[in-house]
Amino acid sequence: MWTTIAGWTGFFRFVVRDAAADRCWAALFPRLPGAPEIVMTIMVVGGAGFIGSNFVLEWLSLGLEPVVNLDKLTYAGNRTNLSGLPPDRHLFVHGDKADRALTAELLAQRRPRAVVDFAAETHVDRSIRGPEAFLTTNVLGTFHLLEAVRAYWLGLAGAEREAFRFLQISTDEVYGSLGPDDPAFVEESPYAPNSPYAASKAAADHLTRAYGRTYGLPTLTTNCSNNYGPFQFPEKLVPLMILNGLAGRDLPIYGDGRQIRDWLHVADHCRALRLTLERGRPGETYNIGGGQEKTNLETVELLCRLLDELAPAADGRPRRDLMRRVADRPGHDRRYAVDFSKIARELGFAPARTFEQGLRETVEWYLGHRSWTDDVVSGAYRDWVKVHYGAASLEGGEKS
Ligand code: NAD
Ligand code: TYD
Repeated sequence: MWTTIAGWTGFFRFVVRDAAADRCWAALFPRLPGAPEIVMTIMVVGGAGFIGSNFVLEWLSLGLEPVVNLDKLTYAGNRTNLSGLPPDRHLFVHGDKADRALTAELLAQRRPRAVVDFAAETHVDRSIRGPEAFLTTNVLGTFHLLEAVRAYWLGLAGAEREAFRFLQISTDEVYGSLGPDDPAFVEESPYAPNSPYAASKAAADHLTRAYGRTYGLPTLTTNCSNNYGPFQFPEKLVPLMILNGLAGRDLPIYGDGRQIRDWLHVADHCRALRLTLERGRPGETYNIGGGQEKTNLETVELLCRLLDELAPAADGRPRRDLMRRVADRPGHDRRYAVDFSKIARELGFAPARTFEQGLRETVEWYLGHRSWTDDVVSGAYRDWVKVHYGAASLEGGEKS
């Protein structure tokens, strides 16, 4: 099946092959003589997912350069996150970051001044059940993208080459797990990934570093803590609890629920990424965190309170009553905490929201976007919930 993305004002057409086809590729039809030149100066990869779509929407709302957005549209990618964006500011391309011919062509045609790579398989629980997709996209896909970017960058000259940046978006999970009194992760903390997801992201970070050191590619890497906010797929803790709480379903707490995460609102993450892109020193890595360490029990209890206040249950029952202990995640990291003093000092980053403010806004966003959640909660999502949590753990787990 072929999908045609209407070219803007009819001057060109962009045709991409559907992901179901054996190989994703795209071809730009030549512009008609006299057609206006679009300058697409930023290429975002994985910009239909949670953080990527927030990044693209904010980038464009700030009046920054047009975006070429390449996304494979896995279960986690959602084209409607980007609906309504003007086609002269945002060109969406459906494709795989591992498709070197496609990425090479997009780079050559659009000549971005930066490539920002969000594209990844991202859910730890899915990586435990099926690690292969994580190696395919996060390791091999990143390698193929780096190769295409390196070839493109080598072809640039002068100021264009000097200004180019490749930004690899990564996670604090590459550093492994902290004990209760350990200092927070710094950029020099040793990599010690514990899940297939974290290991695959660590490999991508190492490749990015190697392309900087070996080939001189001007790379930047950011390692961020847990994000929350609009458009997050409801397999992750915060949106899963919001949707289950609204539906009166159980709230599954892994193990004792005392694992600690350092939470950051996605808008704060995106601001840190813009700062890194504009002022970060090539070859450097920057840790990004929120300074908001919370146990999972604290997070879910706060969500329950917010839901009770903003959308009281019809029967008046407090959402807290829905919390259920379920089997723990294998290899579950106990604590993440990020020292973000380097990005604060060098680039002037500071999170703008407290966790309570950010979670309140997030609950309000999900309440105001029920059709978005109805759309993403597809049959495939329901299958995942059934396989992962099982009917028993969802309906009859031990009360927390
Ligand atoms: P997500 O799962 O919501 O979105 C991933 C996006 O990548 C989707 O749109 C998907 O379609 C796309 N994608 C997947 N494979 C692709 C491929 N081969 N080619 C092109 N596109 C592909 O993820 P997210 O939560 O938005 O995370 C984005 C990035 O940020 C990831 O690299 C992740 O490791 C990192 N990160 C996430 C968090 C977090 O809390 N969510 C925290 C720190 C870092
Ligand atoms: P998650 O959102 O999957 O992010 P990550 O594993 O990348 O930190 O999970 C956040 C925390 O919440 C983590 O400690 C696992 C826990 N968790 C639950 O207790 N129950 C759940 O149903 C989910 C999805 C996560």
